[in-house]
Amino acid sequence: MTYARIAGTGGYLPERVVTNKDLEAMVDTTDEWIRERSGIKRRHIAADGETTSDMAVVAARRAIEAAGITSNDIDLIILATTTPDKVFPSTACIVQRRLGIKTIPAFDVQAACSGFIYAFDIANRFIKTDGARNVLIIGSETYSRILDWTDRATCVLFGDGAGAVVLQADEEAGVISTHIHSDGEFEELLHVPAGISSGYATVQREAAYIQMKGHEVFRKAVGTLGKIARETLADANIDKEEIDWLVPHQANLRIITAAAKKLGLPMERVIVTVDEHANTSSASIPLALDVAVRDGRIKRGDLLLFEAFGAGFTWGSALLRF
Ligand code: ACO
Repeated sequence: MTYARIAGTGGYLPERVVTNKDLEAMVDTTDEWIRERSGIKRRHIAADGETTSDMAVVAARRAIEAAGITSNDIDLIILATTTPDKVFPSTACIVQRRLGIKTIPAFDVQAACSGFIYAFDIANRFIKTDGARNVLIIGSETYSRILDWTDRATCVLFGDGAGAVVLQADEEAGVISTHIHSDGEFEELLHVPAGISSGYATVQREAAYIQMKGHEVFRKAVGTLGKIARETLADANIDKEEIDWLVPHQANLRIITAAAKKLGLPMERVIVTVDEHANTSSASIPLALDVAVRDGRIKRGDLLLFEAFGAGFTWGSALLRF
């Protein structure tokens, strides 16, 4: 039986930091409101011209190095993003060229903030069926380009960045289970209305930016994350006390705290980066994972639970032994 395990992690955050104080000068908001409602203190914002693939390549190189392999050992690239460099080719193909890897399959996955979990699920299935041995999974986003910087309800919540992991075939698990779901019913609670087939060149300016009914999304996220955590643990027959670390999607500290409470996990066992990174969508879980692996909190053998919720709605989880 072939299993998958994480062999290495990597992350990248743009150099430019925008604090809540900086935002006070741009929209009618306060540092206090942003911290109280979301837990966010600052976020990294891509430089002019810096793209999703630029960030993805750096995170990918770091993950490959941490895995102790070379780019030539990678046999599949799956890149999760909602903010691709171009309509086509996929950002995964751009990253493939820039890493100098030839002919292996490379493709993008779009599941908004759950994109990394979707990519992780797919990668795990490739490895378990002997379709790949070293999968490069990347979450990379430049949400600063789909934010209306005059809309205080959304522009304070997001940031840019990239995270990556190398998922490698192994005789031992590794990944215990993955779960992905979606429900298109709630499309308009969280969306960027502009698109290709709906005529993005002719839409109103605001249609090119994130529109969100924050309160409804919040309520749905908390309930759904509670359910997916229970589903995941029951499926694997694992007790919540056995989890060493919850690595959640970083949308809002209040959502993360509520999800941890539902699981009965103390916040000391939850990785939180939303204060420093804000919501980096599909990059948030691999970035949080990389931070905690590199600072020594997450160690080999620890039992991890990833969980995410995003536009679609989409949601998912992964349970794994690091
Ligand atoms: N500064 C000051 N006041 C603000 C700001 C701001 N930046 N933004 C909104 N307000 C005001 C509102 O106008 C409202 O004022 P009113 O009462 O006079 O109308 C008041 O603050 C309260 O607004 P609410 O939306 O009710 O505040 P809430 O406590 O729900 O917090 C928040 C808002 C932070 C957006 C929260 O609802 C949230 O985090 N929602 C979920 C977001 C999320 O998780 N997205 C997930 C995935 S993202 C993806 O998939 C792409």
